Amino acid sequence: KTCILIGAPVDSGKRRPGCLMGPDAYRTAGLARALRALGHRVEDIGNLAPAEHAPDTGETHLFAPNETIGWTNRLIRVAEEQMDRGLPIFLGGDHSLSLGSVAGVANHAASKGRPQFVLWLDAHSDFHTPETTDSGNLHGTPLGYVTGRPGFGGFPKVENPVPQENICIMGLRSVDAAERKALEGTRIRYHDMREIDEQGIARPLAAFLETVAAAGGMLHVSLDVDFLDPMVAPAVGTTVPGGATVREGHLVMEMICDSGLMTSLDLVELNPFLDERGRTAQLMVDLAASALGRRVFDRPTRSYL
Ligand code: ARG
Ligand code: MN
Ligand code: MN
Ligand code: MN
Repeated sequence: KTCILIGAPVDSGKRRPGCLMGPDAYRTAGLARALRALGHRVEDIGNLAPAEHAPDTGETHLFAPNETIGWTNRLIRVAEEQMDRGLPIFLGGDHSLSLGSVAGVANHAASKGRPQFVLWLDAHSDFHTPETTDSGNLHGTPLGYVTGRPGFGGFPKVENPVPQENICIMGLRSVDAAERKALEGTRIRYHDMREIDEQGIARPLAAFLETVAAAGGMLHVSLDVDFLDPMVAPAVGTTVPGGATVREGHLVMEMICDSGLMTSLDLVELNPFLDERGRTAQLMVDLAASALGRRVFDRPTRSYL
């Protein structure tokens, strides 16, 4: 495959700064090297900047909405362009980058007459709108945006909303009351940590991947660092205990690889300022490698701790 690394140092989606260092942390942890070792062509197009936008004046309950609008405009365009050239990997940056990456890849899928599917690996459902968010942090809104929920005035119109039934969320353990209420009335598939504890993660994932395959769909995978347990992935501002293990993370990625369905990937919410000797950045790189062909026996035998 041709993997296109797209640096998206988005830091406007929440108050605590640091995700802007994410793209360089993934580079430092050897993402390109790992993917080349698997036989892929890798092209790194460097770091993007937001499209021109109005200054943020702080007169709203939202944090930096205009900068986030600028990023969304830029990322929609870049996602559309790069989908024609290979498999884009969006190096975040906080999760507000997915307003743009997902809306953009969905436009591309529509242009090919194929349905877009989204696998959302996250402790949170990120299903707010600017009107329902209590925190004012727009990284909690991307699934609301791409499914076409109202309330995103000022943001680009979502040309091809992702149908609710094409979305699967895994890893949930922190869902705000307003999100829960909205989510329960949808056809979005979601699997919380209790269900994963009881059933295992493979069964619901396999069912979703079968649906994608049967529909001839394109699959966008959005991996939030906080999907993982903070014991193994501390470099994130929104830690929630009780997350996925290293083993579950790799299994998900290996099953995605085996399915052959993934057409785009986000690696989001890494805050290198909060990391311990690069271990979170390294784990995210190792998970990306598993999604792109690394097998258990190929895993590096060195330790980073
Ligand atoms: N639901 C919370 C909020 O709206 C947390 C969102 C966390 N999102 C994320 N991408 N880490 O602020
Ligand atoms: Mn998220
Ligand atoms: Mn296209
Ligand atoms: Mn999250």
